[in-house]
Amino acid sequence: MSSSANQLDFETARCVLGLGEAHENWREDFPASERFVTPLREWLMSDLANDAARAGLAPEMIDSVVQVRSRYLDEPALLRMLAHMYYLLFAIPERLPHGSSRLALLPESLGAAADHFYTLAFLAAVPRIFALHAKRGISPKITTDTLTDVATWMLHYKQHKGRWGFDNRHWVRRNFDDKIITLGRLQFEPAPFGWPFRIFRHRSTGQTCALMEAGQRFRKDGQFANADWGRHDQMEYTSTLEETPHSIRGHLAFGTPTELQLSEWEQVITPGTTILSIHIPATGPLDPVECRASFVQAPVFFAAHYPEVQWQAFICASWFMDPQFGEQMPATANIVQFQRLFHPLPYPDEACDAQIYERVFNGQKGPPETLPADNTMRQIILNYIKTGGKWRTGAGYWLRSSSISP
Ligand SMILES: CC(C)(COP(=O)(O)OP(=O)(O)OC[C@H]1O[C@@H](n2cnc3c(N)ncnc32)[C@H](O)[C@@H]1OP(=O)(O)O)[C@@H](O)C(=O)NCCC(=O)NCCS
Repeated sequence: MSSSANQLDFETARCVLGLGEAHENWREDFPASERFVTPLREWLMSDLANDAARAGLAPEMIDSVVQVRSRYLDEPALLRMLAHMYYLLFAIPERLPHGSSRLALLPESLGAAADHFYTLAFLAAVPRIFALHAKRGISPKITTDTLTDVATWMLHYKQHKGRWGFDNRHWVRRNFDDKIITLGRLQFEPAPFGWPFRIFRHRSTGQTCALMEAGQRFRKDGQFANADWGRHDQMEYTSTLEETPHSIRGHLAFGTPTELQLSEWEQVITPGTTILSIHIPATGPLDPVECRASFVQAPVFFAAHYPEVQWQAFICASWFMDPQFGEQMPATANIVQFQRLFHPLPYPDEACDAQIYERVFNGQKGPPETLPADNTMRQIILNYIKTGGKWRTGAGYWLRSSSISP
């Protein structure tokens, strides 16, 4: 049995598992992943439960994944494909762009083995990420906190499918590849600023503003032209940016024309500047005290453990960063308190309402009368839609030098 998984070629494994068109791109490089078969078999036999606990899985989650182990040990084709997935995720991550079609799911006909294909592929990388973090001097508690996204998304899977499993591999690969860190309530991801704005700070008052890069199509209401699925009936404009040695003239975020004197304003962020992108896992309320503690911890943590990350701002984009929540939800709502920490920006990457349905209505879509209005947020969202209003992803920045009052 043990040698057969090593020796399986792609075609044989594909036939045994009933893989189809979606898995064709696993054929490429297949021989290169053979070297992971033996270590994975050993890991399954000896370390699976322990590493699942180190990743923060609850006991019943661990039980469900341990139950599937024998399927992988007894079926060489499954073990071989697990080795290939581990190879794709952790040996050649740079060749897997975000959302890569190479991260296909196994056919549902494989039952629990398919539900836990990615659970196993990620849990097998637990020793690797603990070692990476240990080299940076990061405490095991922070590593475990960072990996609990697997448990969070296993719960989501169970709520949607009625059985344990995990499929949010596109998102969670960052947690296992030293790209994202959980500090208390919030997650921080160092990244190059990827939006078409330049952010300025007033040299004496500390006031900030953002100018759009030239050539951006935006609407009269300040949203980018591609917002709301590109469907709108407003005037469109194109942003300009004129620079002289002494001044810069252009359009502020949301569209107002302006001119800044460089003797007064210093440019602090341009596309490509390192920022810390903020993510909020679904682990409970967005408690303001906990958030502040995370924001206070972040500068100290990154200076100590990622000194090469010279970040300049916190950035956040989310469905709940839509400034319309600030106008309609009570001021005491956690999301309102959170978004007030940031200076608003229109979200440039096709701001739309898709995430609202996903995150607030568990993926249900339909006319507002048909969706549950059983709490304040849902009522506000649905009432606004009934009056013709549109929700869309919003964004914001918070410059590093601005004070954080714990
Ligand atoms: C972001 C999040 C933590 C905010 O929750 P919160 O702190 O309870 O939010 P608020 O205090 O601002 O809002 C409170 C009200 O809205 C409701 N509410 C908040 N988030 C909700 C959600 N995602 N779905 C349904 N209702 C929600 C609460 O039940 C509460 O209603 P009530 O006053 O009638 O009791 C929560 O929405 C969540 O966990 N979302 C999933 C993770 C996520 O969206 N991350 C960002 C991805 S870009």
